[in-house]
Amino acid sequence: MRLDKVIEQQLNTSRKEMKRLFQQGKVLVDQRIERRPERNVDSALHQIMVAGRQLETQERYYIVNKPNGVVTANLDQQHQTVIDLIAPRDQHPDLYAVGRLDRDTEGLVLVTTNGQLGYDLLHPSKKVTKRYEVVVNDLVTPEDVVAFATGITFHGGVTCKPADLTIIDARVDRSFASLEIAEGKFHQVKKMFLARGKKVIQLKRTAMGSLVLPDDLAVGSYRSLTQEELKGLAAHFR
Ligand code: URA
Repeated sequence: MRLDKVIEQQLNTSRKEMKRLFQQGKVLVDQRIERRPERNVDSALHQIMVAGRQLETQERYYIVNKPNGVVTANLDQQHQTVIDLIAPRDQHPDLYAVGRLDRDTEGLVLVTTNGQLGYDLLHPSKKVTKRYEVVVNDLVTPEDVVAFATGITFHGGVTCKPADLTIIDARVDRSFASLEIAEGKFHQVKKMFLARGKKVIQLKRTAMGSLVLPDDLAVGSYRSLTQEELKGLAAHFR
């Protein structure tokens, strides 16, 4: 959460007082004077001291194993959403999903109340890698691996950054592969394979940055991030 928002919520600070607190160096994050009101902080990761008082944040972070058929949105007239998968006791009006998976894609979705974290994780300059398990209706070849590593060009002319394709099992009518990309264009994985004349028939996201989909997280379920998982995201709190 933005540092000035935490201060305002907990200390009921007026704008003028807020400015003064920052100017006078009375806002400390991890024992260092912080001058940026927009700084993203979480008391689970940082010690937040303001004029001698320690402040706490109440952000929520859930790792969700999205099933096929569920949409990555907050509201949908027709389909169940990732937010609907969260139990009433864990709901919060500020919850949203960081990045989109297609309705027919399964796997890891981070759902949080921390808006700034999502912005940082998705910003192209941050190059956060996403890993997918892919099933394709065709033979995936070493030539595909080279083409992905060079940079696939979509039929419309857009070129992707180099991507790391690993063939797990290749057959003429069905291949299994894993793919790591460092960007998030619309339908990117499906379009990359289409550019090679192959169709993705199953797609599952297994990792995003340091976050890895746990083997024991059943499809359709979720849990809070562990302290270790949250620490892994600490570089994205700016
Ligand atoms: N690429 C896709 O084509 N679909 C997804 O859901 C995610 C990445």
